[in-house]
Amino acid sequence: MKVKKAIIPAAGLGTRFLPATKAMPKEMLPIVDKPAIQYIVEEAINSGIEDIIIVTGKGKRAIEDHFDHSFELEQNLIEKGKYDLLDQVQKPSKMVDIHYIRQKEPKGLGHAVWCARKFIGDEPFAVLLGDDIIISEKPCLKQMIEQYERYNASILGVQMVGTKEVSRYGIVDGPVIRDRFYNVEGLIEKPDKDEAPSNLAIMGRYILNPKIFDILAMQGPGSGGEIQLTDAVAKLNQYEAVYAYDFEGIRYDVGEKMGFIQTTIELALQREDLKTELMDYLASVVDRQLIG
Ligand code: G1P
Repeated sequence: MKVKKAIIPAAGLGTRFLPATKAMPKEMLPIVDKPAIQYIVEEAINSGIEDIIIVTGKGKRAIEDHFDHSFELEQNLIEKGKYDLLDQVQKPSKMVDIHYIRQKEPKGLGHAVWCARKFIGDEPFAVLLGDDIIISEKPCLKQMIEQYERYNASILGVQMVGTKEVSRYGIVDGPVIRDRFYNVEGLIEKPDKDEAPSNLAIMGRYILNPKIFDILAMQGPGSGGEIQLTDAVAKLNQYEAVYAYDFEGIRYDVGEKMGFIQTTIELALQREDLKTELMDYLASVVDRQLIG
């Protein structure tokens, strides 16, 4: 079966970016000139996804407005002949069908995914976490869908992390069975570095079989007192094979400050209109720091 639907959980509070996120969803923080969530939606579309459901929460209206028409703004840009900007403003609303559901209580990622079960129905689906922006030649999700089509089994997008970092991630245990491809034998959410079975971390991309919903329905709280998707996938793995794929590309964590700054610089450097000026600026900053 083809993977056509994706869930983007976006109900998190964004406490790491306060006060910026007091009145604005963290998913709307701009990276260069596009909100972070638009990069995620574009990755999904460029991977062949046809329908997206965003799981929102309180105070997330701006996300819905962003992917909607903005009549007055569009009229204003037409009157002023600013057609380039008009195109940019209209693009998000034309991209794909986006649906919304509210997660009424902040019960964790597993619960957020479960909230979208009726929209997904009985077919395989993707999950893309908004904090993980992946810069790659072939979209990360597309790489994973190709693996799914080969194995018809749930696939977790992973990359190696340093030992000091394992406690920030869901960690996968299992042997490599071919290039970049692992057979998952165990999973643990945010382990201490002494109990982590490996350094292979889940990086916010999943293709899951719908059986996960039956498991999520029964899943109790895990790490941090939240219903964890990692725990449910560990249980799914008791019934059917789950694989992990070490995708190609650089992953940035825009959910924390340094990752956000790095992503902004990297993506600005990929823009022809900004690259030269930014490189000159960065070189001058480095010179200044070295000279003291
Ligand atoms: C979530 C998942 C975790 C995964 C991480 C990737 O954690 O629970 O398994 O490794 O995203 O970014 P969070 O960062 O939302 O706490």
